[in-house]
Amino acid sequence: MSSTVIRFKDVYFGYNQLCVLENINFSIEKGEFVGIIGPNGGGKTTLLKLMLGILKPRSGALDVFGSDPRRAGSRVSYVPQASTFDRQFPISVYDLVLSGRLSRLPWYGRYRKTDKEAAQQALKTVKLENLQHRSFGTLSTGQAQRALIARALAANPEILLLDEPTASIDPETSEDVLRILTKLTPDITVVMVTHNLRAVIHDAQKVLSVQKGVAVMAPEQVCQHFAYGVYHPPLIQGAGH
Ligand SMILES: Nc1ncnc2c1ncn2[C@@H]1O[C@H](COP(=O)(O)OP(=O)(O)OP(=O)(O)O)[C@@H](O)[C@H]1O
Ligand SMILES: [Mg+2]
Repeated sequence: MSSTVIRFKDVYFGYNQLCVLENINFSIEKGEFVGIIGPNGGGKTTLLKLMLGILKPRSGALDVFGSDPRRAGSRVSYVPQASTFDRQFPISVYDLVLSGRLSRLPWYGRYRKTDKEAAQQALKTVKLENLQHRSFGTLSTGQAQRALIARALAANPEILLLDEPTASIDPETSEDVLRILTKLTPDITVVMVTHNLRAVIHDAQKVLSVQKGVAVMAPEQVCQHFAYGVYHPPLIQGAGH
């Protein structure tokens, strides 16, 4: 039996005067691989930030595990859009991944054995054990992306949100990252913003097309026109659930 982990009901959101998302209704079930697509500025990152409780809806309701997203804590992990993470920050790959456990520590906390084991397990999942002593800044873009995924996984989340994890990496490395992510389901619910439509059609069970509104689609409904970046309104308005 499926169970809903994220639910949006009649959600509206805007930044100051700008209305970004309106009348958003959808749900995400436990264990699903969900792809979020849409044009630049369409509201994809904003949608993730609402799921994280970083932003609050102007009206409507949304819940994660049946309550306010801010109560989800380490049950939800987030890999932000790559450009927002400072690659020059002097930290080893291992310490970066271990820092994913911070949200689980008590305020006086020091890392315990279980934290170190979780970090090692996450490094293994993304196949970076061999590079764990390297400085994060020396990694290739694809390796850095895997390290950031490992950091999110170290918290042992039930939901993993990723914002364009395959952006600016080569097709082969993108495939590696996608293989890692698909293997996480159904144990972990994976929600991924991406411009990689092939990946969405191939790997996702549900697609959210975001352009002010959100249309819920099955992967096979993702129109080939999208491949040219044409998110045409009739499809978005007319798509079913
Ligand atoms: N902090 C903010 N303050 C004001 N406007 C914002 C803010 N963040 C985003 N916006 C605006 O909200 C809209 C949606 O932005 P968002 O980042 O969610 O889009 P996106 O779909 O993630 O785009 P991209 O594909 O380029 O990452 C855009 O018009 C953007 O300029
Ligand atoms: Mg974005």
